[in-house]
Amino acid sequence: MSSADESDRQAFQRTLVTAALPYANGDIHLGHLAGAYLPADLYVRYLRLRGKEVLFICGTDEYGVAITMKAEQLQIAPQELVDRNYQSIAESFAGFGISFDNFSQTSRPIHAETSSAFFLDLHRRGKLRQKTVEQYYSPSLGRFLADRYIEGTCPQCSAENARGDQCESCGTSLSPEELINPRSVLDNSPLEMRETTHWFLPLDEWQPALEKWQAGHPNWKENVLNYCRGWFADGLSPRAATRDLHWGVKVPLPDHEGKVFYVWFDAPIGYISSTREWAAEQGEPEAWRTWWQDQGTRLIHFIGKDNIVFHAIMFPGMLMHHSEDYILPDNVPANEFLNLEGKKLSTSRGYAVWLPDYLEKFSPDTLRFTLSRTLPETRDTDFTWKGLQARNNNELGNNFGNLINRIFTFAHKYFEGRVPDWTDADLTDLDRATLDEVAGCMERYAVRMEKFEMRAAMDEAFLAGQAGNRYFDESAPFRSRKTDMARCGVSIAVALQIVRQIAVMLSPITPFAMAKVWTWLGMETDLEHGGWEEGLRPLPAGRPLGKQEILFPRIEDETIQPEIDRLAKLVEDQT
Ligand code: 2FM
Ligand code: ZN
Repeated sequence: MSSADESDRQAFQRTLVTAALPYANGDIHLGHLAGAYLPADLYVRYLRLRGKEVLFICGTDEYGVAITMKAEQLQIAPQELVDRNYQSIAESFAGFGISFDNFSQTSRPIHAETSSAFFLDLHRRGKLRQKTVEQYYSPSLGRFLADRYIEGTCPQCSAENARGDQCESCGTSLSPEELINPRSVLDNSPLEMRETTHWFLPLDEWQPALEKWQAGHPNWKENVLNYCRGWFADGLSPRAATRDLHWGVKVPLPDHEGKVFYVWFDAPIGYISSTREWAAEQGEPEAWRTWWQDQGTRLIHFIGKDNIVFHAIMFPGMLMHHSEDYILPDNVPANEFLNLEGKKLSTSRGYAVWLPDYLEKFSPDTLRFTLSRTLPETRDTDFTWKGLQARNNNELGNNFGNLINRIFTFAHKYFEGRVPDWTDADLTDLDRATLDEVAGCMERYAVRMEKFEMRAAMDEAFLAGQAGNRYFDESAPFRSRKTDMARCGVSIAVALQIVRQIAVMLSPITPFAMAKVWTWLGMETDLEHGGWEEGLRPLPAGRPLGKQEILFPRIEDETIQPEIDRLAKLVEDQT
């Protein structure tokens, strides 16, 4: 990051963080978590820990063909499907500790109102282009069909059931016109080409302004900049803002019967609707403007790599061409993909680990920690159940859990459950060197977090744990307690101070466990909001300590094996 970027960053007073709105067509899986939700939550929790003003916004993305197809499959109305899934998604995010300030739905009236007003602003001011295009129409159903509702013979491999967007047999991306003998997925009826008129975002015309704006953000992640460079080099094409469908926000213009917003037009506006909903719930309906239209706000979009074009190009273009003065994203930290046991996740084949299933059997902190250590920040990474077990037992359990347990056990057994007496003058070189080392970990952790390098931040927390263990072994309170109780007490006080700093660093990552440690340390202040500063202060002698318990119970082979077997069976059934 250049020093100019750094000083710009300091000028921001508040941060608006968004995480991609998940489609309400199914549950959240580990790929979603590693792509967008966990890094966003780590970042938000880190900012809150530093006492910064931050708002974390999300909601479910409830329109589009992904929803109508799923509803048809289940033979329920789309609204019923999205309401059900909204509940379950919101619950599993909460169980996993994703700390949104607001989690809305795009099928709510506030979103129809917000997206319609946004569209009309662009439309009235001549920012959109109208084009007549030819699309497949089903005479028997009396409607135009979206790509995924069309089936036919693949022009590449002759498979008979290739879809209008892709052939599953040979993997070729297709457009419906390329299919031989196209027919409707819904009733197998033949289709005909008909003209239809739609509104488009003229990204081709917006390209120069977008390129200029992006050139001012050389600090973005390399993967994001590379994707954008590629699209700019190819030349942007206009993108449809409307389509012929019944499920969606209706186009608010006369003579547009049967037309709704294309889901990728309305979904990012969902971030604004969700912020408006939050503001209304605070009793300050206009407060959303501070978060979207005040130059003192920094906007950060956390997404997976498949969403880059929409957040780094399309939505900024929309914001830039609106008549009101919207802020543009300051950063779009997109992650690559997470694989599962060495294979690509596939929701259609059920090859995934679903969050509600995980939470029924295992702890949220264990998964948060494991994924934090393997986030696909610069390239695709792999989740394995054995890896989760090892991270839980060795890293969480041994490096952190045992250390914390040993120190508290000691304090309860030999110091009446209080922080032992100590003064600055009692500290030895080893005490000071270790406290400095851990403070250094905190500093580097902060630098990494600010740069969205969560894995590297985690490494610093881990090093702090190792420093704590080394300190316990080298200062050896288990020996000094037999010869010099005062020295033994100072070692325990120093160790408790290290525990407090570790609790601060780990609190965004394992918030459930660290909230417990904070109370055991007798802290009355809020760890999650502003705990960072508190963690740097010396721990007062004599403070009563809470009784500790096992923080990270071991995960045994027999618990993990059924999960490994389930995935292996899915792979076997496919081959
Ligand atoms: O890819 C997806 O899951 C989309 N539902 C993300 C939408 S992000 C934003 F634009 F709303
Ligand atoms: Zn094919």
